[in-house]
Parts: sequence; C-alpha cells; structure tokens
Amino acid sequence: MIHKTFRFENMIMKKYTNIYDIENIKDTVDTAIQLKQNPFEFHELGLHKTLVMIFFNSSLRTRLSTEKAARNLGMQVMVLNVNDAWNLEFEDGTVMNMNTTEHIKEAAQVISQYADVIAVRAFPGLIDKEKDASEFVLNSFMKYASIPVVNMESATAHPLQALTDAITIEELKTRSKPKVVLSWAPHPKALPQAVANSFIKMMQVIDVDFSITHPKGYELDPNIVKETPVNYNQKEALKEADFVYVKNWSSYNDYGKILSEDSNWMMTEDKIGDAKFMHCLPVRRNVVVEDAVLDSDQSVVIQQANNRTFAAQIVLKKILENL
Ligand code: CP
Repeated sequence: MIHKTFRFENMIMKKYTNIYDIENIKDTVDTAIQLKQNPFEFHELGLHKTLVMIFFNSSLRTRLSTEKAARNLGMQVMVLNVNDAWNLEFEDGTVMNMNTTEHIKEAAQVISQYADVIAVRAFPGLIDKEKDASEFVLNSFMKYASIPVVNMESATAHPLQALTDAITIEELKTRSKPKVVLSWAPHPKALPQAVANSFIKMMQVIDVDFSITHPKGYELDPNIVKETPVNYNQKEALKEADFVYVKNWSSYNDYGKILSEDSNWMMTEDKIGDAKFMHCLPVRRNVVVEDAVLDSDQSVVIQQANNRTFAAQIVLKKILENL
C-alpha cells in the first residue's frame, strides 16, 4: 500500500477554507447554476475518490448537501462525528495525561490515508476571542493533513454558505445591481459571527449595493466590515431592498455575549416590504422572523438550502480537477 506523504505546507489551489480561495466568483457562480441543470454531468470525476466529513458540531444542511454534492460527482463519502471518535488534542508539546487521547498530528495524517478530501465543521467556543480567531481546529487539519481541506463552517467563516447565497442572489435578482441588506435579528442563544462574516466578504466582491443593519454593540470585526455601510436604523436600512438576509450573531467586541434580545429587530411582513427574505437556516420562528414572512412567497430559504448542494459541488469539482 502506498501511504500518502505527510506534508506540513498547504496544497496550492486545493482547499476551500474561505471565499478568497475562489479565483473568479462570477464564473464559479455561473458554473454552479449550470451544474444545477445537469447535476450528474461530471459523475465520473470523483470515481474512486473519497470525501471524509468530520463534524465537531450539529448540522442538517451542510451534512446532507455536501454528501449529495460528492455523490453527484461519483465520490464515496464517510462521515465522522468526533463525539464517536477519540478526544483530540490540538496543543503542541502537551503532556497528554488528561482527557485527550489522540493528537491531531496523527489523526489528520491517518484520515489522509483513507480520504482524498477532508471537510471539517468546527464552531467557535465564543469565550476566548483570540483562540477562536486562530481557527485552531481548521488550521490544524490544514497543517497536518496531506489532502485538501474544505471548511463546512469554522469558528469565523462559513464559505460554502456564502457561495450558496451568491448563487441564490444571482438566480433571483431582477436588476443588475440589487440592493442587499444584512439585518441582525434577536436570538436566545449566543451564536457565532461566521455566517455574517462570510456573507459580508461575498457581498463585497459581487456586484450588489450592500449594507448592514444591527443594534449598537453588535459591530462585527472591522477587518471584515471594512467600508461596508452600517446603519443602526433597521427601518431606514431596509428601504427599497431587493434582498434582506436576516441573521443573528453574538457581540464581537463584548465577545460572545448577548447584549439584546429586542424583539423589535425580528423580521416582519411590515418591515420587509417587497424584498426577498434570505436566511441560512435553521431559523427560530417568531423570534428571528415571523411566520408571515417565512411562509410567504418572498421567502427563498428553501431555494437557498437547495443551492447548498451546488455550491459544495462546484467546490468539490474544482478540487477534484486539481488532485
Ligand atoms: N446553514 C447551515 O449551515 O445549516 P446546518 O447547520 O444545518 O448545516
């Protein structure tokens, strides 16, 4: 048996850990929309190739759509819930005499023997900002695996969701430069900033008129928001919007804290006007968005969820073409 060699450096053009790994977003979005018309066109590309999906956290859409995408390309898929495996150690030089049983150095190399692509989901702890920002789980897989790594939502990014959202906007837009608003919504649990971060990055590189609205205290990482306009007045921000992307996130400055559960920020029929309603799902009804919006024709959340398959498929296709 030939063992894949252990390499510490990343493989050029063979990963999808953030949206900037896509060279040409417009071309990628257009190709994904074409793939949707004929999902099995490249069903031999992944023959005898295996995707291992590793979940540190729960998932419905990412798990099923990424597996479906891989199968559409002819790949085999194995899923590992880390709760079912050995407790992993991520620190270098640790004396492993406590709760961790296996170091990521061995684990990532071993998985690389069984797989051709690794996809990882690992949420932030939302307690230690620096630790979360270091993306230690995702980056450890990138460091120690000898095969390409796909981010299925990490501490600070959800690039498959952002690609999905760009595909959905492209499919539904009725003018060349639609107005897109990212609107914060209340939530009873502290949620990561990952979806918002990647959505912002994506909107900054596609042809849209983009702005963000949230209550004071919910400012996101300034290195991500950059020059994107932020309006603290939700009603004003939503005027004449074509797409309203609703998402909760916990505070970035007061890291991981819930500063407000103000139900006035919930998306309602009254506020959304004629805009399309977008959300990555799962969504809490009548907390984040009222039933009247989610159940209306303006809601495109199911189309978004469907597009998760084609976002994952175009990413896997590009990776397989480079193997
Ligand atoms: N949107 C999304 O990532 O959904 P899951 O958490 O169910 O995968």
